[in-house]
Amino acid sequence: MLELNKISKTFGRGTVNEKKALTDISLKVNKGDFISIIGSNGAGKSTLLNAISGVFKVDSGSIILDGTDITSMSEHKRAAQIGRLFQDPMKGSAPSMSIEDNLYLASGKRGWFAHISAADRREFRERLSMLGMGLEDRMKHPVGLLSGGQRQALTLLMATYNVPKLLLLDEHTAALDPATAEKVLDITRTVIEENGITCLMITHNMQSALELGNRTIMMNDGEIIYDVSGEKRRSTTVEDLLTLFKEKAGEKLSNDRMLLA
Ligand SMILES: Nc1ncnc2c1ncn2[C@@H]1O[C@H](COP(=O)(O)OP(=O)(O)OP(=O)(O)O)[C@@H](O)[C@H]1O
Ligand SMILES: [Mg+2]
Repeated sequence: MLELNKISKTFGRGTVNEKKALTDISLKVNKGDFISIIGSNGAGKSTLLNAISGVFKVDSGSIILDGTDITSMSEHKRAAQIGRLFQDPMKGSAPSMSIEDNLYLASGKRGWFAHISAADRREFRERLSMLGMGLEDRMKHPVGLLSGGQRQALTLLMATYNVPKLLLLDEHTAALDPATAEKVLDITRTVIEENGITCLMITHNMQSALELGNRTIMMNDGEIIYDVSGEKRRSTTVEDLLTLFKEKAGEKLSNDRMLLA
Protein backbone atom coordinates (compact mmCIF):
# COMPACT_ATOMS: atom_id res chain seq x y z
CA MET A 1 0.00 0.00 0.00
CA LEU A 2 2.74 2.45 1.05
CA GLU A 3 6.36 1.79 0.31
CA LEU A 4 9.26 3.96 1.41
CA ASN A 5 12.51 3.03 -0.27
CA LYS A 6 15.61 4.42 1.42
CA ILE A 7 14.32 7.95 1.84
CA SER A 8 16.65 10.58 3.30
CA LYS A 9 16.24 14.23 4.22
CA THR A 10 18.79 16.75 5.43
CA PHE A 11 17.69 20.23 6.52
CA GLY A 12 19.95 23.28 6.14
CA ARG A 13 22.58 21.46 4.11
CA GLY A 14 25.92 23.24 4.17
CA THR A 15 24.94 25.55 7.03
CA VAL A 16 25.84 25.40 10.71
CA ASN A 17 22.32 24.13 11.30
CA GLU A 18 22.71 21.15 9.00
CA LYS A 19 20.59 18.29 10.34
CA LYS A 20 20.10 14.87 8.83
CA ALA A 21 16.51 14.26 9.90
CA LEU A 22 15.87 11.02 7.97
CA THR A 23 18.53 8.46 7.05
CA ASP A 24 17.76 5.80 4.45
CA ILE A 25 14.33 4.97 5.84
CA SER A 26 12.69 1.94 4.27
CA LEU A 27 9.22 0.86 5.30
CA LYS A 28 6.49 -1.30 3.82
CA VAL A 29 3.01 -0.52 5.07
CA ASN A 30 0.28 -3.05 4.29
CA LYS A 31 -3.26 -2.10 3.40
CA GLY A 32 -5.24 -1.71 6.64
CA ASP A 33 -2.14 -1.38 8.82
CA PHE A 34 -2.63 0.94 11.79
CA ILE A 35 0.89 1.81 12.89
CA SER A 36 1.84 3.81 15.97
CA ILE A 37 5.15 5.68 15.85
CA ILE A 38 7.13 6.55 18.97
CA GLY A 39 10.55 8.04 19.65
CA SER A 40 12.17 10.89 21.51
CA ASN A 41 11.98 14.57 20.59
CA GLY A 42 13.72 15.30 17.31
CA ALA A 43 13.81 11.63 16.27
CA GLY A 44 12.33 12.48 12.86
CA LYS A 45 8.74 11.32 13.38
CA SER A 46 7.02 14.46 12.07
CA THR A 47 9.61 14.72 9.30
CA LEU A 48 8.70 11.20 8.20
CA LEU A 49 5.00 12.07 7.95
CA ASN A 50 5.86 15.37 6.23
CA ALA A 51 7.95 13.50 3.66
CA ILE A 52 5.02 11.17 2.94
CA SER A 53 2.53 14.02 2.59
CA GLY A 54 4.88 16.05 0.41
CA VAL A 55 5.59 19.09 2.61
CA PHE A 56 9.07 18.92 1.05
CA LYS A 57 10.79 16.68 -1.47
CA VAL A 58 13.08 14.00 -0.07
CA ASP A 59 16.79 14.19 -1.03
CA SER A 60 16.91 10.60 -2.16
CA GLY A 61 14.83 7.45 -2.23
CA SER A 62 11.29 6.89 -3.44
CA ILE A 63 7.74 6.89 -2.07
CA ILE A 64 5.15 4.60 -3.63
CA LEU A 65 1.49 4.92 -2.65
CA ASP A 66 -0.88 2.24 -3.86
CA GLY A 67 1.38 1.39 -6.80
CA THR A 68 1.98 5.00 -7.87
CA ASP A 69 5.33 6.72 -7.46
CA ILE A 70 4.45 9.94 -5.60
CA THR A 71 8.05 10.97 -4.84
CA SER A 72 7.80 14.15 -6.91
CA MET A 73 4.05 14.72 -6.67
CA SER A 74 3.02 18.06 -5.12
CA GLU A 75 1.66 18.23 -1.57
CA HIS A 76 -1.62 19.53 -2.94
CA LYS A 77 -2.07 16.55 -5.24
CA ARG A 78 -1.13 14.06 -2.54
CA ALA A 79 -3.72 15.66 -0.24
CA ALA A 80 -6.49 14.17 -2.36
CA GLN A 81 -5.38 10.71 -1.19
CA ILE A 82 -3.82 11.42 2.19
CA GLY A 83 -5.73 12.72 5.24
CA ARG A 84 -3.80 14.50 8.00
CA LEU A 85 -4.33 15.63 11.56
CA PHE A 86 -1.96 17.67 13.71
CA GLN A 87 -1.49 18.41 17.38
CA ASP A 88 -3.09 21.85 17.02
CA PRO A 89 -6.92 21.65 17.08
CA MET A 90 -6.98 25.01 15.23
CA LYS A 91 -5.61 23.38 12.09
CA GLY A 92 -7.70 21.48 9.60
CA SER A 93 -11.06 23.29 9.87
CA ALA A 94 -12.27 26.83 9.16
CA PRO A 95 -13.22 28.61 12.44
CA SER A 96 -15.62 31.22 11.07
CA MET A 97 -17.55 28.69 9.02
CA SER A 98 -20.29 26.52 10.50
CA ILE A 99 -19.90 22.82 11.23
CA GLU A 100 -22.12 21.92 8.27
CA ASP A 101 -20.23 24.19 5.88
CA ASN A 102 -16.95 22.64 7.00
CA LEU A 103 -18.37 19.18 6.41
CA TYR A 104 -19.73 20.26 3.05
CA LEU A 105 -16.26 21.40 2.00
CA ALA A 106 -14.74 18.15 3.29
CA SER A 107 -17.30 16.10 1.39
CA GLY A 108 -15.94 17.58 -1.85
CA LYS A 109 -19.45 18.03 -3.20
CA ARG A 110 -19.79 20.72 -5.82
CA GLY A 111 -21.88 23.85 -5.55
CA TRP A 112 -22.42 26.71 -3.13
CA PHE A 113 -23.10 26.40 0.56
CA ALA A 114 -26.68 27.52 -0.08
CA HIS A 115 -27.13 24.26 -1.89
CA ILE A 116 -26.49 21.91 0.97
CA SER A 117 -29.42 19.57 0.44
CA ALA A 118 -31.68 18.01 3.04
CA ALA A 119 -30.06 14.68 2.22
CA ASP A 120 -26.59 16.17 2.83
CA ARG A 121 -27.76 17.51 6.20
CA ARG A 122 -29.14 14.12 7.17
CA GLU A 123 -25.85 12.53 6.30
CA PHE A 124 -23.86 15.15 8.24
CA ARG A 125 -26.14 14.64 11.25
CA GLU A 126 -25.69 10.91 11.12
CA ARG A 127 -21.93 11.11 10.85
CA LEU A 128 -21.67 13.74 13.60
CA SER A 129 -23.80 11.70 15.98
CA MET A 130 -21.25 8.89 15.72
CA LEU A 131 -18.79 11.15 17.54
CA GLY A 132 -21.02 11.13 20.64
CA MET A 133 -20.29 14.80 21.33
CA GLY A 134 -23.68 16.32 20.55
CA LEU A 135 -22.32 18.19 17.52
CA GLU A 136 -25.25 16.98 15.40
CA ASP A 137 -27.42 19.51 17.26
CA ARG A 138 -25.02 22.37 16.59
CA MET A 139 -24.55 22.15 12.85
CA LYS A 140 -25.06 25.89 12.29
CA HIS A 141 -22.53 26.88 14.95
CA PRO A 142 -19.17 28.28 13.85
CA VAL A 143 -16.38 25.75 14.37
CA GLY A 144 -14.39 28.39 16.29
CA LEU A 145 -16.81 27.97 19.22
CA LEU A 146 -15.99 24.28 19.70
CA SER A 147 -13.67 22.94 22.39
CA GLY A 148 -10.29 21.53 21.35
CA GLY A 149 -11.53 17.95 21.66
CA GLN A 150 -14.71 18.59 19.69
CA ARG A 151 -12.68 20.31 17.04
CA GLN A 152 -10.19 17.44 16.72
CA ALA A 153 -13.07 14.95 16.45
CA LEU A 154 -14.67 17.08 13.73
CA THR A 155 -11.33 17.43 11.91
CA LEU A 156 -10.96 13.65 12.02
CA LEU A 157 -14.43 13.28 10.53
CA MET A 158 -13.52 15.79 7.81
CA ALA A 159 -10.16 14.15 7.02
CA THR A 160 -11.88 10.80 6.57
CA TYR A 161 -15.18 11.97 5.04
CA ASN A 162 -14.11 10.49 1.74
CA VAL A 163 -12.02 7.57 2.92
CA PRO A 164 -8.36 8.47 2.22
CA LYS A 165 -5.82 5.92 1.03
CA LEU A 166 -3.73 6.89 4.00
CA LEU A 167 -4.33 8.78 7.24
CA LEU A 168 -1.43 10.52 9.01
CA LEU A 169 -1.91 11.57 12.65
CA ASP A 170 0.81 13.68 14.25
CA GLU A 171 0.14 13.65 18.01
CA HIS A 172 -3.43 14.69 17.33
CA THR A 173 -4.46 14.25 20.98
CA ALA A 174 -1.36 15.76 22.63
CA ALA A 175 -2.93 19.18 23.23
CA LEU A 176 -6.05 17.77 24.92
CA ASP A 177 -6.67 16.99 28.58
CA PRO A 178 -6.30 13.26 29.39
CA ALA A 179 -10.04 12.45 29.46
CA THR A 180 -10.72 14.25 26.19
CA ALA A 181 -7.61 12.72 24.61
CA GLU A 182 -8.94 9.28 25.56
CA LYS A 183 -12.31 10.07 23.98
CA VAL A 184 -10.74 11.34 20.74
CA LEU A 185 -8.52 8.24 20.63
CA ASP A 186 -11.62 6.06 20.99
CA ILE A 187 -13.26 7.89 18.10
CA THR A 188 -10.05 7.53 16.09
CA ARG A 189 -10.02 3.79 16.66
CA THR A 190 -13.68 3.47 15.61
CA VAL A 191 -13.33 5.59 12.45
CA ILE A 192 -10.20 3.70 11.38
CA GLU A 193 -11.61 0.24 12.10
CA GLU A 194 -15.00 0.87 10.51
CA ASN A 195 -13.47 2.18 7.31
CA GLY A 196 -10.42 -0.11 7.23
CA ILE A 197 -8.17 2.96 6.89
CA THR A 198 -4.41 2.55 6.61
CA CYS A 199 -2.97 4.85 9.24
CA LEU A 200 0.32 6.08 10.70
CA MET A 201 -0.10 7.69 14.13
CA ILE A 202 2.64 9.47 16.07
CA THR A 203 2.07 9.39 19.80
CA HIS A 204 3.97 10.14 22.97
CA ASN A 205 1.73 7.88 24.95
CA MET A 206 3.52 4.53 25.05
CA GLN A 207 0.46 2.76 26.37
CA SER A 208 -1.70 3.81 23.43
CA ALA A 209 1.21 3.06 21.10
CA LEU A 210 0.88 -0.57 22.16
CA GLU A 211 -2.90 -0.70 22.55
CA LEU A 212 -4.00 1.00 19.36
CA GLY A 213 -3.46 -0.49 15.95
CA ASN A 214 -1.52 -3.57 14.88
CA ARG A 215 2.07 -2.43 14.65
CA THR A 216 4.46 -0.15 16.55
CA ILE A 217 7.56 1.56 15.16
CA MET A 218 10.26 3.22 17.22
CA MET A 219 12.41 5.97 15.72
CA ASN A 220 15.67 7.47 16.87
CA ASP A 221 17.98 9.96 15.20
CA GLY A 222 16.36 9.70 11.77
CA GLU A 223 16.15 5.91 11.70
CA ILE A 224 13.61 3.21 12.46
CA ILE A 225 15.22 1.22 15.25
CA TYR A 226 12.37 -1.14 16.11
CA ASP A 227 9.30 -2.45 14.31
CA VAL A 228 7.00 -4.87 16.11
CA SER A 229 3.64 -6.46 15.31
CA GLY A 230 1.60 -9.62 15.90
CA GLU A 231 2.08 -11.91 18.87
CA LYS A 232 5.35 -10.28 19.84
CA ARG A 233 3.66 -6.89 20.09
CA ARG A 234 0.79 -8.27 22.16
CA SER A 235 3.24 -9.44 24.81
CA THR A 236 5.28 -6.20 24.79
CA THR A 237 4.93 -3.84 27.76
CA VAL A 238 5.75 -0.15 28.13
CA GLU A 239 8.66 -1.21 30.32
CA ASP A 240 9.95 -3.42 27.47
CA LEU A 241 9.78 -0.48 25.07
CA LEU A 242 11.80 1.71 27.43
CA THR A 243 14.43 -1.01 27.89
CA LEU A 244 14.54 -1.63 24.14
CA PHE A 245 15.04 2.03 23.44
CA LYS A 246 17.96 2.16 25.86
CA GLU A 247 19.53 -0.92 24.21
CA LYS A 248 19.07 0.28 20.65
CA ALA A 249 19.67 4.00 21.08
CA GLY A 250 22.33 3.69 23.78
CA GLU A 251 20.57 6.28 25.91
CA LYS A 252 17.47 6.72 27.98
CA LEU A 253 14.35 7.84 26.25
CA SER A 254 14.69 11.60 26.52
CA ASN A 255 11.09 12.54 26.46
CA ASP A 256 9.37 13.75 29.58
CA ARG A 257 5.91 13.66 28.11
CA MET A 258 6.41 10.07 27.05
CA LEU A 259 7.56 8.91 30.44
CA LEU A 260 4.73 10.67 32.21
CA ALA A 261 2.06 9.44 29.85
N1 LIG B 1 11.73 22.46 8.45
C1 LIG B 1 12.81 22.17 9.16
N2 LIG B 1 13.95 22.89 9.03
C2 LIG B 1 15.04 22.58 9.73
N3 LIG B 1 15.14 21.57 10.60
C3 LIG B 1 14.05 20.80 10.78
C4 LIG B 1 12.83 21.07 10.08
N4 LIG B 1 11.92 20.14 10.45
C5 LIG B 1 12.54 19.34 11.35
N5 LIG B 1 13.82 19.73 11.54
C6 LIG B 1 14.80 19.07 12.42
O1 LIG B 1 14.79 17.69 12.11
C7 LIG B 1 14.88 16.89 13.29
C8 LIG B 1 13.68 15.98 13.38
O2 LIG B 1 12.53 16.78 13.69
P1 LIG B 1 11.05 16.19 13.82
O3 LIG B 1 10.15 17.36 13.95
O4 LIG B 1 10.80 15.25 12.72
O5 LIG B 1 11.14 15.40 15.19
P2 LIG B 1 9.98 14.61 15.98
O6 LIG B 1 10.44 13.20 16.10
O7 LIG B 1 8.68 14.86 15.34
O8 LIG B 1 10.07 15.29 17.42
P3 LIG B 1 8.92 15.75 18.46
O9 LIG B 1 8.62 14.55 19.29
O10 LIG B 1 9.60 16.80 19.28
O11 LIG B 1 7.76 16.26 17.68
C9 LIG B 1 15.00 17.87 14.44
O12 LIG B 1 16.36 18.03 14.74
C10 LIG B 1 14.42 19.14 13.88
O13 LIG B 1 14.98 20.27 14.51
MG1 LIG C 1 6.94 15.88 15.91
